[in-house]
Amino acid sequence: MGRLLIILGLMVVIALVLRWRRPAWYWMSFGATFAGLRTLVRYRSVMDACGLTVPPARWQLTLARLTNRPIPGPRSPRILRLRPTRTGLVLRIKLRAGQDAFDVSASTDRLRHSFGMYGVSSRELRAGVVEIAMTGYDVLKRVQMPARAERSAVRVPVAMREDGGVHYRDYRRVPHALTLGATESGKSVYQRNLITELAPQDVALVGIDCKQGVEQAPMARRFTALADDPDTAHDLLAALVRHMQDVYELIRAHQRISADIPDAEIAADIWDLPEDIRPVPLVVIVDEVAELALYANRDEEKRRDRIITSVVRLAQLGRAAGVYLEICGQRFGSELGKGITMLRAQLTGRTAHRVNDETSANMAFGDIAPDAVLAAVQIATETPGVAVAADMAGGWSRIRAPHTTLRQAVNACNRHAHRTPDVPALADFRPVVPHLAPVPAPAVEKTPTAA
Ligand SMILES: Nc1ncnc2c1ncn2[C@@H]1O[C@H](COP(=O)(O)OP(=O)(O)O)[C@@H](O)[C@H]1O
Ligand SMILES: [Mg+2]
Repeated sequence: MGRLLIILGLMVVIALVLRWRRPAWYWMSFGATFAGLRTLVRYRSVMDACGLTVPPARWQLTLARLTNRPIPGPRSPRILRLRPTRTGLVLRIKLRAGQDAFDVSASTDRLRHSFGMYGVSSRELRAGVVEIAMTGYDVLKRVQMPARAERSAVRVPVAMREDGGVHYRDYRRVPHALTLGATESGKSVYQRNLITELAPQDVALVGIDCKQGVEQAPMARRFTALADDPDTAHDLLAALVRHMQDVYELIRAHQRISADIPDAEIAADIWDLPEDIRPVPLVVIVDEVAELALYANRDEEKRRDRIITSVVRLAQLGRAAGVYLEICGQRFGSELGKGITMLRAQLTGRTAHRVNDETSANMAFGDIAPDAVLAAVQIATETPGVAVAADMAGGWSRIRAPHTTLRQAVNACNRHAHRTPDVPALADFRPVVPHLAPVPAPAVEKTPTAA
């Protein structure tokens, strides 16, 4: 008996310590079971209290009256499935007649408090079926990406979503993206993490970093081309436009549309080409875009106009040629001069880290998801790396990239340096590789404990 008590006490202490220091481990060892039981036990009363029930059906009332039984109580949505995940619980429910998915999404905050979960969101799966995703702890506090997230050449996981899901950068669905944020808000870390994820894939990386390459030069071994000042950037962008035109010629040459070619085999972008002749997809990563758009004198102004024209052309036509843009900056509005708003309209993916004012947030979301603007302004200074990512459907979610240090990124790039493809049109811009021997980096990087 005494021994049992000691073991029980020890378990409680372990659970409490885990919960305090390692919420993710706590969730997987104890939390999920407790929360699952709690949810099932409280389910009916919570649904009733949140106004998510409907009165009993007529036949039930009639039956009760005929058989002289007590009148049945209100009915709550039927539970189809309750599934624990790495970060929370997923509850799938079948709505009763007369309920709609909006009733549930309007009650998510009430459900959060009633079930004692950290975050609750809901979405409709199909008519009558709603999935409620709950997280058990603050998953953005210390980001740990699931090891088994799917990866492919043009779809890589880049951040954790607030609801415990993985945020992907999918170049075929969202070819070009814009990432905004004040200084020290986590833009470079986000980019670094993206480069780390792209390094093992079959893509060519092209970097434009006019801060003399401080961010990208250390990772140069995995870069097919790198520009670290506006003059080189100008030439590099012109070369990229030429490359794009070459790719289009290749696609044209391959099309040779005639009546007996099946529809599905007509090529209109590089992914329709047979694998042996398909050009490698190119991801162009621009850090601090304002450096490309500002000028101090007449000559620079001409250069600037040509640079922006090239970028706009890449954004307009690059997708089918497999040229994808990833643009980072502190602000991206009309004050950067002509062509900028036109360019912005082409950048479908929008991510905003912490911004200092509403105008900056508007530059990211004003035209696609107005309510994301407020969420971007509210990001706290103490949590660098937290960002708001919008998708094209007008939905948005808070995300945070794992804290990838420059050393980890450099190691990943060096490890995969042999994958760096040669793109003939960009041969002049091959970076001069600094000698940086890989050193073993700890598997789990220590993140600053953010509130
Ligand atoms: N995802 C993140 N998780 C934890 N800390 C982060 C994250 N992103 C950024 N930071 C912290 O914020 C600091 C500034 O980030 P950085 O990417 O250099 O900002 P920016 O490029 O926007 O000026 C980094 O040194 C890092 O310590
Ligand atoms: Mg930066």
